[in-house]
Amino acid sequence: MQNTSSFKPVRKAVFPIAGLGTRFLPATKVMPKEMLPLNDRPLIQHAFEEAREAGIEEFVFVTGRQKEMIEEHFDHQPELMRTLEQRGKDDMIDKVKTSEMSEAQLFCTRQANPLGLGHAIWCAKKLIGDEPFAIILPDDVIHWERGCLTQMMDAYNEHGGNIVAVKDVPREETYKYGIIDPASDNGKTVDIQGLVEKPDIDKAPSTLCVIGRYILQPEVFNYLSAFEKGTGGEIQLTDSMAKLIGNQPFHGLRFEGDHFDCGGRNGFIKANITYALKDPSLRDDIKSYIESIL
Ligand code: UTP
Repeated sequence: MQNTSSFKPVRKAVFPIAGLGTRFLPATKVMPKEMLPLNDRPLIQHAFEEAREAGIEEFVFVTGRQKEMIEEHFDHQPELMRTLEQRGKDDMIDKVKTSEMSEAQLFCTRQANPLGLGHAIWCAKKLIGDEPFAIILPDDVIHWERGCLTQMMDAYNEHGGNIVAVKDVPREETYKYGIIDPASDNGKTVDIQGLVEKPDIDKAPSTLCVIGRYILQPEVFNYLSAFEKGTGGEIQLTDSMAKLIGNQPFHGLRFEGDHFDCGGRNGFIKANITYALKDPSLRDDIKSYIESIL
């Protein structure tokens, strides 16, 4: 993608995938949550494709124990390809190719213990270096024609600084999320003057929560390196982002798209129904099945 803005380009994205996925146990006892399929591809591949569409060149996975399968998924599988070729399954060959990355694209590092999202991002410090970078949480799935990260790149090219994806939630649910304190709001982009992780409902500064897409400046690593524990005894990304505010521009983008929290069963099942109903090869069959059981 051609970069026409005056800000340093965002070339790298971090995918923190070292969490335990306890909400999906026992399915995730051995298999990583990120490999759960949403229609025909695992959650992590949806995240990868969104990043690639946004112009990301280097994909940094922060993995942990029992996550090797994710690296395998993005590798070339010559035996499988040979068999598909022999059987004339060209459509499947094209599909498999959408999941391949070269040595120049995929970089992995490890988080030995899941100490929190902030700690997972810190683990990518050396691979990111001194440049702005994106973060995608693969369990936050956003369905739209133009990917959420592409929309955020547009906002970054206009404003620079740090950009997070935000959406409105009911006030009684604010205690579950990172909530922003808006200084000004034009209905699409919000100037952020504060951030608080999982506030008490009566202390939430707004009903706008941050969801799992970020474009951050490398200075965030200065704060993450302090390893300060926050809510839930975890090293929170929100706390370090909050410290950047005031020193650097910080914006929230109300993205276009349907957001699903695929880290839990409700959101995951709703996402699967939505993706099936939007897929021409499945839509009619699934629609009539749902109608018949209702
Ligand atoms: P979540 O809290 O949603 O994921 O973290 P989890 O801990 O795997 O899931 P539950 O709550 O036990 O069901 C959001 C993202 O951050 C990553 C997770 O893998 C997920 O993509 N993460 C979280 C890490 O990589 N390391 C951590 O220490 C914590």
